[in-house]
Amino acid sequence: MSNAPITEVLDAVTASNPNAATDRPYVWLDGEFVPKSAAKVSVFDHGLLYGDGCFEGIRAYGGRIFKCKSHIDRFFRSAERIRLTIPYSADEIDRLMRDSLAKNNITDGYIRLVVTRGVGSLGLHPFKCPKASVFCIADKISLYPPEMYAEGMPIVVAKRPRIPIDCLDPSIKSLNYLNNILAKIEAIDAGVLEALMLNTQGDVAECTGDNVFVIKDGAVVTPALEAGLLDGITRSFVIGLCEELGVSITERTVRLDEVMTADEVFLTGTAAEIIAVKSIDQKPVGDGAGEGPVTRRLRERFRAVLKSGAPED
Ligand SMILES: Cc1ncc(COP(=O)(O)O)c(C=O)c1O
Repeated sequence: MSNAPITEVLDAVTASNPNAATDRPYVWLDGEFVPKSAAKVSVFDHGLLYGDGCFEGIRAYGGRIFKCKSHIDRFFRSAERIRLTIPYSADEIDRLMRDSLAKNNITDGYIRLVVTRGVGSLGLHPFKCPKASVFCIADKISLYPPEMYAEGMPIVVAKRPRIPIDCLDPSIKSLNYLNNILAKIEAIDAGVLEALMLNTQGDVAECTGDNVFVIKDGAVVTPALEAGLLDGITRSFVIGLCEELGVSITERTVRLDEVMTADEVFLTGTAAEIIAVKSIDQKPVGDGAGEGPVTRRLRERFRAVLKSGAPED
């Protein structure tokens, strides 16, 4: 990785998006496509006023929507948990995502699907908002510079714990991301792009936008959902890949010292895909040489599956 300040690294990633300087993409907003500059929600929308809403980040590979059904299911599940009615059926959501890709000529890209509580008055009352608002953005994304995939990425341990499940269940993929954003700021202040978040018991939960996997002596472990983390769709897929490849995989409580003494650590997420961790709080992971053999095997299998036709289930 270059030694450029982290803000410059991020600027370079953003500039690589061909849509960055145009009025594209067209955004599907409450039933119609509008150009980027016209894709606006009201200042009275409770999604904006209170973070009252849910979202999904989804990838398309070769024109297929990776784990489309799982994302739509999680979208509806999240909305149901906050008693928000999505004013479309699952089939309609599926259709509008595919239409968004087609409208923007995207076969390989990223979809952001959002439902907000909609417009209401200046009080919290969610049920005084008569109609939820739905929008879908299909665009290109590259989260981290390509060299980080080969060399691994440095991360830090956030001092701020993950919000406990009893307060806000992180398996609801809501628009409330301030807990994660504050941890992300800790990362950026430390000159890196990700932070490992512990729960209030001090056990490992996840990173600010990715799930975490730890490898010791060839065996893979990942924090169980009870630790308080998003039930990541890439996480589930990678657990399946481990099973398919005969790699030992366990979901259980993971202590910080296990991560600090692991042979390999990697992160998973829709946007990040699979990325190795090179150092934590500046201490090298394993031999510090970047992506280790188990991570590489899983990432290569992941790429091969996507190449042969991304599963949409
Ligand atoms: C907090 C958090 N954890 C994990 C993930 C990875 O989840 P998925 O693989 O479903 O994208 C995300 C993705 O948005 C996330 O925001």
